[in-house]
Amino acid sequence: MSPTSIKTSILPPTVENLDLIATWLREGNVAAIPTETVYGLAANALDIAAVRQIFAIKNRPFYDPLIVHVPDAETLFQWTEIDEELRKTVHSLLEAFSPGPLTYVLPKKSWVPDIVTSGHATVALRIPRHPVFQEILCRSGCAIAAPSANPFGYISPTSASHVFQSLGGKLRYILDGGDCEIGLESTIIDISHEHIRILRPGKITGEAIQAVWPKKIFLENYSSKNQDNFRPPLTPGMLQRHYSPRTPLYLFSQKSELPLAMERNVARVLLSQEGHQGFRENDFFLSRDGNLALVAKRLFALLRELDDSHAYKKIYCQCPPLDGLGAAIADRLRRAAASSDGG
Ligand code: TXA
Ligand code: MG
Repeated sequence: MSPTSIKTSILPPTVENLDLIATWLREGNVAAIPTETVYGLAANALDIAAVRQIFAIKNRPFYDPLIVHVPDAETLFQWTEIDEELRKTVHSLLEAFSPGPLTYVLPKKSWVPDIVTSGHATVALRIPRHPVFQEILCRSGCAIAAPSANPFGYISPTSASHVFQSLGGKLRYILDGGDCEIGLESTIIDISHEHIRILRPGKITGEAIQAVWPKKIFLENYSSKNQDNFRPPLTPGMLQRHYSPRTPLYLFSQKSELPLAMERNVARVLLSQEGHQGFRENDFFLSRDGNLALVAKRLFALLRELDDSHAYKKIYCQCPPLDGLGAAIADRLRRAAASSDGG
């Protein structure tokens, strides 16, 4: 049967459906499930054939490793091979940030399947806090490999209908947990070395991690605009072009940088409605007052909506300053706007 011929159902998270999906996953199948960040395309992380289906459905290259989602700290440590000192560090980070949107890249146990880690000596682990995901972990008894439930390179889904729009026909079930609360993928930190490196910025900011971890933190090259400094990505989430709408996207930081006379088929996306004059019908606001948590929550949904409307030949989007959550939003926008020959 061709993978495009599958009937896709969106299921509400009733007790029966939680059991159905938990069994479905335990038996070696794939389903989309909600997390507090974005929707994930889930499979039993120890079932190689099931994990292979994730790559096929997303059209994802095998060099891009997956995050393994686990229910608690005890299970997380079972997947890692680390000494006592590193364990203490991870413990303090877990206490501060997990369950939640922080992913830990750590040296892995030898039995962790290569397909999950793309053959790396490390594994990425996260304890999600979404109650529906927690239920699935608990009812299935599986650790769950789950990348974002979007075709490789496209915008991540923050609702069940986003998953249906881009992967409908390729998987049997989408469990509906409502709109994702955070709307951006988790922060990824590599603590397999002496220092912490932030591989992908997210809701848990470098500042927040620094408050718990007294040593040096390195922010990987996401804040560098300069393509001359480009080094091969440590993680494909660091690819220069990612999370991209099909409609060409251009960034600006100040409202004053916006071209005044713009055509009707150009959309303008602004962070805040405050102080905005000369409202035009193709102006879109991510928040009323510049609240970045709201901007993060709405960003992917709005970019999708504009893309799917086919009404615009260009999207101009305002990029926030790099402090706090602004770093994660700016990171996704820069990658989404990078030209396809940008790397
Ligand atoms: O919020 C999230 O993290 C969502 C939800 C579903 O949990 N997941 C997600 O997965 O964003 P994905 O696959 O779209 O992005 C995970 C990133 C990839 O860029 C991958 O390269 C990186 O994590 N990654 C996974 N394992 C790694 C490893 N061992 N070392 C470095 N990077 C790794
Ligand atoms: Mg992704």
